Amino acid sequence: KVKLKFDVFRHVRTFSTADKPTVVEESTKTHPSTNDKRQCFDDMVEFRKKQARSSVVVQVGNPLKSAALVNQVCSRHGNVSNLFHYTHKDKELLLLEFDSELSAVNLLASCSHNNNVKVIPAASPFLWLKAMPSESSASMSARFPLIMNEDNLANDNLEELLSNAKSISEQMIILEDQTRLSEIGHRLRWITCVQIERMLSGLFPSLQVLPFGSFVNGCGRNGCDLDMAVSLDGHCGTEPLEVKSPLIFQAKAAINNPRLQTQRHIEVFADILQNFTTGCTQVQRILQARVPIVKFYHEFTGVDCDLSMGSLTGVFMSELLYLYDKIDWRFRPLVTAVRHWGAWARLTDMVPGPRITNFTLTLMVVFFLQRRSPAILPTLSEMIKLARPQVDTRQTNDVDCTFLRDPAMFQERGKLNQESLEDLFVEFLRFIESFDFNERSVSIITGTALRKFDSKPLYVQNPLERELNVGRNVNLKELTRVVMEARNALYILETQEDQCPANWGLLALPRAERVRRSNPKSSHHNHVPQIDMKDLFSTNTDDEIDDFIEAKVS
Ligand code: GTP
Ligand code: MG
Repeated sequence: KVKLKFDVFRHVRTFSTADKPTVVEESTKTHPSTNDKRQCFDDMVEFRKKQARSSVVVQVGNPLKSAALVNQVCSRHGNVSNLFHYTHKDKELLLLEFDSELSAVNLLASCSHNNNVKVIPAASPFLWLKAMPSESSASMSARFPLIMNEDNLANDNLEELLSNAKSISEQMIILEDQTRLSEIGHRLRWITCVQIERMLSGLFPSLQVLPFGSFVNGCGRNGCDLDMAVSLDGHCGTEPLEVKSPLIFQAKAAINNPRLQTQRHIEVFADILQNFTTGCTQVQRILQARVPIVKFYHEFTGVDCDLSMGSLTGVFMSELLYLYDKIDWRFRPLVTAVRHWGAWARLTDMVPGPRITNFTLTLMVVFFLQRRSPAILPTLSEMIKLARPQVDTRQTNDVDCTFLRDPAMFQERGKLNQESLEDLFVEFLRFIESFDFNERSVSIITGTALRKFDSKPLYVQNPLERELNVGRNVNLKELTRVVMEARNALYILETQEDQCPANWGLLALPRAERVRRSNPKSSHHNHVPQIDMKDLFSTNTDDEIDDFIEAKVS
């Protein structure tokens, strides 16, 4: 029997302590094993990849009529365990999962290309259901309930839910629940990874495509991009297995310059994606970046993708954030609220530039939680000290990424801190407002505010590549805005009594922003000591700007 997943999450939760809120009505959206607090990152990756290798996506004309037919055709090759429906642009698509990988392989072996059109005859898990007039599906469709499109469900009543919440803490939980990347969103990203892996593994049989970024670290929202790193030998930072055979491959010598070698590979991969890979469009080669990447858009999943190779530090960074998420349940809703605040106040941007990034904001949240008393999250140094030999050892491009990969060790300790989400959000804003960015750096290695190592306005140390500053792109104007917006948000949250009942707590933040933008002079929080940006940037030198900020901000 096929279960149609609707992926509607309506959790009723209670929460007043640091314990994870009780989920009264559990969502069907996540596989139990991905919910397991103790589950390690590598197991989660393996589980999701297996699921993706057992899945195909079928484009259909009418999903209501075709679901039964697709199920019938696919069932000839094995047991269909899940069927999801989604739309993308004008396409109607079904994602279908088999019980086993072999069933998906057999199904794909039975598919052919459309003979009526000239096409690149490459295989992929993205299929199309040809109209078959002889097999009327009208009667079969009666066996299926209405197939719902999750994308349309998402966020429809978010404002209402937030407005009806009982506290800011509850609003933060709702925001996290409602904007979290949906199950279909997860599956479509994993199936894309597996598709690319299969395309490139003809050249490199052990090759692995490893996703990283918010998509896998638990902070992914609907619509987030897909960051992928390629490991050509598939070792993924661990020691290669002992070679048993005396026979080794004859192979081409690599170019002496690793960066040049990576650029060459990325160029070739970009050509493969552009010329042969189903669904990959708008392929852009960005070879001069510190980490060369190829960017593309997947037209069957609607996902923006970045593919890099050479270094796996991004993957291990995501693993670290994934562990922090497992250590304390408050991390994710707090990061979500902070990222939303960043977007509402236009502190973050979709395109690279001088604004602070979501990643930098996330590291600041980690730093903040490490410095609570009692600490909610451990420092990276603590996790390095407790690393188990071999199990936790990882190395990529001479960067040591070894740290304890078992969150259980710290889960109990975090519970000693009973602060609510609301307290943490407010305190985070206070931390941003009062931190000495001029002199001090943010480092999650030690959780201490060390002196800055360079003269950039913001210094947030990259915890794995320690000589790098992930906040290096942020200019003084943007950093000042971050500080000012933290102050504005604090003012709004702390003057709740002025607000109408439908416009309270988190809801007041984007609305205040809208009011301010439509009429800057009539801001309802005129009492907040504002820095007039025009005043600030009519000054000429960095020193003058520093003096100005000194006087107004600190
Ligand atoms: P969203 O995509 O905005 O949801 O968040 P994200 O965390 O995925 O950020 P992004 O896609 O921009 O970056 C993906 C990953 O690349 C991050 O999670 C980091 O691991 C890494 N990354 C991003 N920015 C930097 C940076 O400035 N320096 C370094 N070293 N790594 C970065
Ligand atoms: Mg990302």
